[in-house]
Parts: sequence; structure tokens; C-alpha cells
Amino acid sequence: MASDGESKRLKDDQGHYLDAGFWRAVWVMAVISVVLMAVVVAYPIDPWFLPEASTTSVDIDKLFKFSMFFSVPILVFVNGFLIYFAIRYRRRPEDPDSAIGSQIHDHRALETWWTVVPAVLMVTLAVLSYFVIPEYYPTGQAAASAVTMEAIGHKFYYEFRYPGLRNSVMNDAHLPIGVPVTMDITSLESSQDVNNEAVIHSFWVPEFRIKQDMVPGMVVPLHFTPRETGTFRIVCTEFCGLGHSHMWGKVIVDSRSDFDKWYADQKRSEQAEAKGVQPISLAPGDAGAGQTTFNAKCVACHKAAPFEQKLVGPGLGNLFHDPSHPNLVTGKPATPANVADIIEHGAHGDMGTMPPMQVNGLSQKDVANLVAYLQTLHK
Ligand code: CUA
Repeated sequence: MASDGESKRLKDDQGHYLDAGFWRAVWVMAVISVVLMAVVVAYPIDPWFLPEASTTSVDIDKLFKFSMFFSVPILVFVNGFLIYFAIRYRRRPEDPDSAIGSQIHDHRALETWWTVVPAVLMVTLAVLSYFVIPEYYPTGQAAASAVTMEAIGHKFYYEFRYPGLRNSVMNDAHLPIGVPVTMDITSLESSQDVNNEAVIHSFWVPEFRIKQDMVPGMVVPLHFTPRETGTFRIVCTEFCGLGHSHMWGKVIVDSRSDFDKWYADQKRSEQAEAKGVQPISLAPGDAGAGQTTFNAKCVACHKAAPFEQKLVGPGLGNLFHDPSHPNLVTGKPATPANVADIIEHGAHGDMGTMPPMQVNGLSQKDVANLVAYLQTLHK
């Protein structure tokens, strides 16, 4: 251990001081750090990288910039010294095999700084987070004034329940701009578990800076206010089964008038449904269009191949002409009307659940086309 006067200078255990090249390298790293820190401060995350589409996302990005700002010099100096020392103290041909690099031990000033600085940064980040994170979980007036709706994770789609709407909305959630929302986030309950369906999903909207696991039996209310119109992805980030990679939803943030129009449309179709209009029309199915739809949507879970070639569900290549599987998952014979019924309303089977047509974004016409296409297959 060096005496107090000497320990202020960087000296290794053999008594060699670090040379001028070391301090030049420090200066280069300092300049690179300052330039990159300025870039971090000036860089507009929205719109260059990711829109800040909710009010909370603005504050989250401030936290992000704080940690990025101080991560830059740490990154530059740690890796800069690594590279500098590797080059400066590399083994030279004349060095003996037992040669080791320049060693520095017990340098109190160095050890104090690299302990105190990260500790202060971490505590500061924790305190700043303490003021931002509650924006996701408001109480009192802010909580009471928000519109509450539900998001439920299924294999492999999102179900949304709106106040005042009897029917759930599948996958594509519309929200009005500027209206605070509390989204009760959960997954299908175990008590409703028919075929091992209650698994953990995730509700991630990157543009909202919201990421919350959807856990069966647990409801997490998350609060946010959309501040930009547009269409934003909902991503499932928990591996929830074979259809996980196809589990995508959308949040569509509308202007107030567009949202009101959409909501009124939902109401109208509910009323029409209650009156019993909407018979399924099978007559003019177009097999060509059906094939296009099949390849765009159904291939996520089904192959146009023999029954045994399963993905999430069975192969459908011989659906109408398979003597070993004369009946459908519903137990009914494979007739066009019974197949259309499954595509329209979905079904439960040994392998899992087929969601109804709204989830798959299918129209009545698509259903007719798909039935026509499946009838042409003999595989
Ligand atoms: Cu749902 Cu992954």
C-alpha cells in the first residue's frame, strides 16, 4: 500500500506511473462521452425512434434519457480502458512467458469514486422512478374520472370489454384521444379453463410505454391517456403456446368524433344482432378468394394438408373428404353449413380453442369463400 501522498497518483505495484499515453486516451474517451451525451439529450425519441403516444410515455422517456445520459460515459470509459490496456500492455515478443501486466491495487480514491458515483446514480434513478411509476396506478380523483375497460388475454388473441357494449371487441381496441383510460388487464380465468387455456400472456404497447403480464386470476388496472392518433401494436411477450408468435392486437387511437362513430356502429350491430338479422349466406363462395384468405389468416393454426399434420389445429386439406374423420370438432358431419358454423362462432376441441370470426377479422363473405376453398381440397 502506497503512502498517502503517492496514492493520489496512479502507480502500479512495481512503482511505475501510468504514462502520457494513458492520459491522452482518457482525454479521447472524455471527448467521445461528451459528444454522445449531447446526442442523448438532443435526440428526439418521438418521432425518430418511437412515438410517445400516451402521456406517461413522455415521462418514461425522461427516465430513459437520464439512464442513457449516464450510461454513455460508463460504456465509453469501461470499454475504452479495456481496449487501451489490451493494446498498451499486450505481450511483446521479447517479454518472458511469466510477464504480467501493470497492476494497481488498493487505490482508495479510485475505489471510492467507482463505488460512490454509481450508487448516487442508482438512488437518483430510484427517486425519479418513484414519482413517475404511480402515473400507471392513480388513486382518488384521477382514478375516478377515468373510463374503465377490460383487456383479457386468450390463446391467441385479445378480448376487450367496453362500458355499455354487450359484445366484446376482439384484437383491435379503439380509444378516443385525450381521454384517461384505466385498462383492467388480466387473462382467461382458471375456472373457465376448458383445455389448458388459462396461461400467462402479456399486454405490451411500445408506443404507450406499457408492458404488463396478463395473469389468470389477477387483475392489474393500468392507467394511461392516449395523446396521439394512430394505430399501435399490442404484442404478447410471454410464450403462451404454439400461436404465440401470431398473437398481435392493435390499439387504434381515434379523434373524438371518429371514436363516437365507431362506438355507435358497435351499438347498432348489437341491436341488429338482437333482432336476429345477419343470416349467414353460403351461396356464392369464391374458392380463389378463399385460398387468399386462408393463406393470410388460417395458416397461423392450420395447414392445407392431411388431418394429422397439425399446427395449433388439425390439417384441413381433406376436411370434406376424409373417411377417417367424418365428423367435425363439434361432433357434426362435415357439411358446408357446419363448417361455416365453426368458422363463424369458433369451437373448443382437444387441441385448443378456435376463436370466432370477429377475432380473425373475417366477414360473412370471407366465411363463404373459405368454405368454397376448403371444399376444393383433396390432400
Ligand atoms: Cu399470448 Cu404469447
